[in-house]
Amino acid sequence: MGPPRKLHIKSYGCQMNVYDAQRMVDTLAPEGFVETADVDDADLVILNTCHIREKASEKVYSELGRLRVVKDEAARNGRQMNIAVAGCVAQAEGDEIIRRAPVVDVVVGPQSYHHLPQLLARAKSHGRALETEFPVEDKFGFLPPPKPDAIRARGISAFVTVQEGCDKFCTFCVVPYTRGTEVSRPVAKIVDDVLRLADNGVREITLIGQNVNAYHGEGPDGRTWPLGALLRRLAEIPGIARLRYSTSHPRDVDDTLIAAHRDLPGLMPFVHLPVQSGSDRILAAMNRKHTADDYRAVIDRFRAVRQDIAFSSDFIVGFPTETEEDFSATLALVRQIGYAGAYSFKYSPRPGTPAADMRETVSATEMDERLVRLQELIDSQQSAFNAAAIGNTVDVLFERAARNPGQIVGRTAYLQPAHVMASPDIIGQVLPVTIASLERYSLLGELAAPASSRAADFSQTTDSSQTTMGA
Ligand code: 5AD
Ligand code: SF4
Repeated sequence: MGPPRKLHIKSYGCQMNVYDAQRMVDTLAPEGFVETADVDDADLVILNTCHIREKASEKVYSELGRLRVVKDEAARNGRQMNIAVAGCVAQAEGDEIIRRAPVVDVVVGPQSYHHLPQLLARAKSHGRALETEFPVEDKFGFLPPPKPDAIRARGISAFVTVQEGCDKFCTFCVVPYTRGTEVSRPVAKIVDDVLRLADNGVREITLIGQNVNAYHGEGPDGRTWPLGALLRRLAEIPGIARLRYSTSHPRDVDDTLIAAHRDLPGLMPFVHLPVQSGSDRILAAMNRKHTADDYRAVIDRFRAVRQDIAFSSDFIVGFPTETEEDFSATLALVRQIGYAGAYSFKYSPRPGTPAADMRETVSATEMDERLVRLQELIDSQQSAFNAAAIGNTVDVLFERAARNPGQIVGRTAYLQPAHVMASPDIIGQVLPVTIASLERYSLLGELAAPASSRAADFSQTTDSSQTTMGA
């Protein structure tokens, strides 16, 4: 193999794209690629794109405009740079990218990136390559596992994809078209992945999928296992202190999941459960397959088994035909549930989805105004939730050195960042912290017990610009 080739990946959108980007690095490592943070220096640039809303989608074309200049400059210096577009925009608009952006050498959809080495070779010998079919094989079976040093470099919290795609077909959503119908990975493969991660220092696993609680993978006993059973199995793996999962659909919360929250102390009491709207009429137009009351009932089932559980959600404002009364029902639902945080979005018509054909749209000013009102309410709930931690002693899983010298930052059960002055030795440990104050969204506190006395106590028990995915 020649000198290492340099790879720069830029990921947009959800957690699954972050995970897929890591797996692309793993796939290209045996080809001699190493990652670089410097795009000018790269031999291969991959844009791992997001199609969920128009704004996210447009970023790819403006970025490609910038890359054209960088690629030309490299060519002038006698260096060949290849550009690949991956992810959901590649899936949805692959042909258009090829037509509009001659700078692109490879277009690869989210189900096909295990073919990246062959596609790059094809692009070099035959010109440009496009692959956006949904292959019949399981791409994960073809991906090389991450190397130990790559796992360690990625830190103590890791994502693991357990299912992909969605069969729900909410009328506003591109996911069923870009990620395909719902497919679950077998339990044994997920267990293997988590064992490898745990062996290399990972302490927290977030199981990810567009509709993660629709999980129905083949178990080692030949039966179909639901998410609750999978979580129960993963909780047995030594070294894994915390388990999470995202993103869930209210319709797919079964009793095994509720029981997992009752029985597994390592399953964090923080659930992202998108509702999208509080109006039954809008929920029906969205094809959500649940009412606001159904959603309240699901929340009650979680709360009945775990009083300290907290929720986050996704909301869309300004879905076609949404009236002030519909929107008030959303505000009422938010007031009633009380969230630890939530994402809210202005409705964005996506080509090819049923809602994109609906004529009775909400005006831009009304949408803006509703978004502000909803976000104010959510912000006030989030601030109150964070402020309630002050004075309490809470478990924090320490992740890394913070920007301030001497400070180490970790996360509470509710993903709140928590900072303490301590030795870096505590990274990877779950330790009790007495929270003294709140600075914007960050908690500041002190270790409540000397680190050494808790060092062995492992067994029991995302960048903010990122958005959630699916469900
Ligand atoms: N417009 C606005 N928001 C959307 N979402 C999905 N599709 C759209 C759309 N067309 C939001 C939903 C989903 C989150 C991942 O993105 O709230 O839960
Ligand atoms: Fe599926 Fe979620 Fe999209 Fe609905 S919003 S189609 S549940 S991914």
